[in-house]
Amino acid sequence: MTILLVENVSKRFGGVQAVAGVSLSLAPQEMLAVIGPNGAGKSTLFNLIGGQLPPDSGRVVIAGREATRLPVAARARLGMGRTFQIAETFRSFTAQQAVEAALLAARGAPFRLFARAFGPHAAEARALLAEVGMEEAAATPVSTLAYGDVKRVELALALAAAPRLLLMDEPTAGMAPAERGALMRLVRGLARGRGMGVLFTEHDMDSVFAFADRILVMVRGAVIAAGAPEAVRADPAVREAYLGKAGLAAALRARRHG
Ligand SMILES: Nc1ncnc2c1ncn2[C@@H]1O[C@H](COP(=O)(O)OP(=O)(O)OP(=O)(O)O)[C@@H](O)[C@H]1O
Ligand SMILES: [Mg+2]
Repeated sequence: MTILLVENVSKRFGGVQAVAGVSLSLAPQEMLAVIGPNGAGKSTLFNLIGGQLPPDSGRVVIAGREATRLPVAARARLGMGRTFQIAETFRSFTAQQAVEAALLAARGAPFRLFARAFGPHAAEARALLAEVGMEEAAATPVSTLAYGDVKRVELALALAAAPRLLLMDEPTAGMAPAERGALMRLVRGLARGRGMGVLFTEHDMDSVFAFADRILVMVRGAVIAAGAPEAVRADPAVREAYLGKAGLAAALRARRHG
């Protein structure tokens, strides 16, 4: 079974081919990492899948339904979720209130109700906070939480819509190495437990190779390698892309002297 199918999507910005004919598929419970150097097109690909940008060509299929031209909200109804930074407006809320607001939003409540409608989803919000290991912080304002804990609350907000497919663009950016592993371990547990497919980008290679079931490598918009972590790690094209100019020069020097 496939929760997400991307067929040959492309996106050009003026003279830049940001995404060039990328295809992928994602199964429930699967952790698929998209990696590549800065500007490779990872975020653009996520925006094409998420519905923030229309592709120039290609298709996006969510849970078996054609989604290429659907707006974000309609994709959410098919099960697509995405982590976002908590907006400034919500920072004065406690973790509990923020998750309750997300639950209301997921059920289509109008924004004006957020301020007074706390309560009906209290137990559910508490359960979501427990799922991300933040039950103790339920009464703490988000603005006073440590950075890594904010990331966990953001994850709970995304889970409020019960996504079957979760997009995470650099979920561990700015986190300390120990916190990164803990967050990715949590995400993998959620993927397995909820049967949710997770598509994520990540610059930290330790997290990628420790937690991805499969890895897709993009360079200048195109996929240069895809497969199991061991196969991708051993791929000469990937090594070349990641060695960069300095590494290449060193390799050439070594060859001359070797
Ligand atoms: N809205 C836009 N308008 C014009 N060019 C854009 C736009 N968004 C992205 N680009 C360009 O498209 C290319 C891909 O950018 P993108 O942000 O998708 O890369 P990325 O792989 O996410 O990089 P990073 O690792 O730095 O986050 C880059 O050359 C970028 O400058
Ligand atoms: Mg990016």
